Amino acid sequence: MKVLGIESSCDECAAAVVEDGRKILSNVVASQIPFHAAYNGVVPEIASRKHTEWIYNVVEESLDTAGLVPKDIDAVAVTTRPGLLGSLLVGLSFAKAFAWAQAIPLIAVDHMLAHLYAPRLETDTLIAHNNTPEYSFLGLLVSGGHSIICRADNFDDITVLGTTIDDAVGEAFDKVAKHYGFGYPGGAVIDRMAQSGDSGAFRFPLPNLHKGEHRYDLSYSGLKTAVINQLEMFRVEKNRDIKPEDIAASFQKTAVEILLRALFNAAEDTGLSTIVAGGGVAANSYLRARLAERQDLRCVFPPLELCGDNGAMIAGIGYHYLIRGEQSPLNITASARVSGFKKKYP
Ligand code: KG4
Ligand code: ZN
Repeated sequence: MKVLGIESSCDECAAAVVEDGRKILSNVVASQIPFHAAYNGVVPEIASRKHTEWIYNVVEESLDTAGLVPKDIDAVAVTTRPGLLGSLLVGLSFAKAFAWAQAIPLIAVDHMLAHLYAPRLETDTLIAHNNTPEYSFLGLLVSGGHSIICRADNFDDITVLGTTIDDAVGEAFDKVAKHYGFGYPGGAVIDRMAQSGDSGAFRFPLPNLHKGEHRYDLSYSGLKTAVINQLEMFRVEKNRDIKPEDIAASFQKTAVEILLRALFNAAEDTGLSTIVAGGGVAANSYLRARLAERQDLRCVFPPLELCGDNGAMIAGIGYHYLIRGEQSPLNITASARVSGFKKKYP
């Protein structure tokens, strides 16, 4: 069965065709980065306008690349939450029209669940995962908007163990890069710069919250503020031996340490030894290297092109709803908010 997946929750306008939930026939991602770079962040109004301009061509290209025409598609899966509302509505409206015109099922997909699904996909060039993770596993969902540690018992059965109590980890990368003028988007730039920096040059604080019910929680506002406060010293002493690469490496080390502390607590307490990472920050090379050091844990990362937002993960997970006979009504709407991903405190 061939599912068309449409993703427009943020600044990637993406469409893909995936067969039987695994085989990627096409995966087109049109990035809006150049349009947001001048603002050092995603401008929602620009994002939804670009989606409106691009969505038809992106879907058309995904069909052409797969060598298919609309009547070959069995269902349309589309991100309906969470994300920027105006952007989500562009993809959703297009998906509704496509589903209605072809008289095929429409399937609403949660973007965060789809990120966790990404390592189950395979491509022609990359039989991504002979080591496809079996349920149950620990999920590490780390992106610009979310930082979640969860237990996954099925593709749609998630229990949140910990979340950030303030900023998301990707947001911290982006804000630090913005304040230092490193470039946009911040995560990839800091990752690259850090490779030639000294991660011991600066000592930034770890949040002090891993007690009681907060054992799996995360916090990034303190780190973000500490790193940004360092900027003054960076400006004053720029001519001395303070290198931007050192700031990047020291920040990245601490940001990853915060994630790992909570994640390892969760692994220890749940006894789950398989970890599946997803979301843009899962592309981070230092995070990957640190997790690879833990011989006792099996860490599964999607290939780099499937870490960020893409239509393949939407189509892939959509297939599983389809074969369960689940579909969404044409009057379904989008939501900016996460659903079922809020941690409940006792
Ligand atoms: O999943 P994603 O593409 O979009 C959201 O759903 O937010 O994640 C984007 C986030 C941004 O904050 C970006 O800076 C971060 O992922 N990111 C990275 C790296 N590549 C992207 N963060 C750290 N290291 C990277 N290599
Ligand atoms: Zn995402």
